[in-house]
Amino acid sequence: MFNTTSKQVAVDLDQADVLKKYRHHFFIPPGKTRSEQLYFTGNSLGLQPKAVQSYIQQELDDWKNLGVEGHFHGKNPWFKYHHFFEKEALVVGAKKEEVVVMNNLTVNLHLLLVSFYRPTSSRFKIIMEAGAFPSDMYAIESQVKHHGLDYDDAVIEIKPRAGEHHLRTEDVCQAINENGDQLALLFFSGVQYYTGQYFDIKALTHAAHAVGAFVGIDCAHAAGNVKLQLHDWGVDFAAWCTYKYMNSGPGGVSGVFVHEKHGNNPEMPRFAGWWGYKESERFQMKRGFKPEPGAAGWQLSNAPIISMATHKAALDLFDEVGMDALVKKGKALNAFLEQIVLDAQEFNQKLAFEIITPEDRGCQLSILTNESGKALFDYLTLNDVIADWREPNVIRLAPVPFYNSFMDVWEFGELLKQF
Ligand SMILES: Cc1ncc(COP(=O)(O)O)c(C=O)c1O
Repeated sequence: MFNTTSKQVAVDLDQADVLKKYRHHFFIPPGKTRSEQLYFTGNSLGLQPKAVQSYIQQELDDWKNLGVEGHFHGKNPWFKYHHFFEKEALVVGAKKEEVVVMNNLTVNLHLLLVSFYRPTSSRFKIIMEAGAFPSDMYAIESQVKHHGLDYDDAVIEIKPRAGEHHLRTEDVCQAINENGDQLALLFFSGVQYYTGQYFDIKALTHAAHAVGAFVGIDCAHAAGNVKLQLHDWGVDFAAWCTYKYMNSGPGGVSGVFVHEKHGNNPEMPRFAGWWGYKESERFQMKRGFKPEPGAAGWQLSNAPIISMATHKAALDLFDEVGMDALVKKGKALNAFLEQIVLDAQEFNQKLAFEIITPEDRGCQLSILTNESGKALFDYLTLNDVIADWREPNVIRLAPVPFYNSFMDVWEFGELLKQF
């Protein structure tokens, strides 16, 4: 419990914050009513690390000065560029061979579904959360149709119980067991984009494997936010974008995880391209696809260097700080935010809303508003609070450990009180 009535509490928390210097490694956008925005949208687009420009400049210089020779003789040879992302594995709890950075998230989900959703006449069902992110819904819908199946026959969407906002693990496990013989895939998000619920991936994976189904996780809202152990939990595949908590720029590249039990199997079906070919023989240009072992064997095209350079700058910061420290501060910021929101609500009767994010969560807090919700959101925006509005009536707030301060959160609370 924090005494949020006093500003001093935020000053003290910031002073004790071992990550406070990292705020200065990011550009905080200027506000209209204050020098810097109160930026709580790292769950949507993370801020720009100041180092990004020099990382991109390096690749532009190599291109300018070396042309095609940059592939082998650049400072960071483009031919091997994806190897510079081995540290990505630490962010998601994987072995380095299990992770590769390539493409964008939805593209990667489709590529992985090609490998992991191969329905038969007896095993063809997919369990997913109702209200999954639209791109995931469309990916699943189109995959199911691609296999000539009917969506309602093949896809089971799990909803929260009446009057509840988030899913119970036991309800998902029950659906898994009830559909066990026919279940081909459990496809879930790691952290739910709307409610901020951090699912019990370990328990869900265990339950799905017990009935013989594969498990795929969309970690868009989990990577760089919560502690993941994709390898130890035995998840079969996962993918995430890097522009949210991983601060790698709009439309930035995506990370992919393929568990080694599949990654090391060259017979695993996949859509192939030359960049996934065995690296030592790639330029022999032979017929017959031989995959590089590990997740790298799912690559199709040569790396988009400029976009990857942005991610490299951001990932180097993760390597420096480590997920443990980030998760620790993220939890503290979130707990402070929750207290600030509850106290403001007590102070100002106009604030009729409900926190719908369960205890299992990362940085995000989702607030279910009433009919004055949009007015509240607009008021906050006018006052330089950058949060996001998700239809029909949720305000999402995510103070993140790299660049948000406890004072950001406290000042947000003062604005809430004045609404
Ligand atoms: C959970 C989730 N899945 C998928 C996507 C789509 O990502 P992309 O546009 O990079 O394919 C997003 C984007 O925000 C997302 O939040």
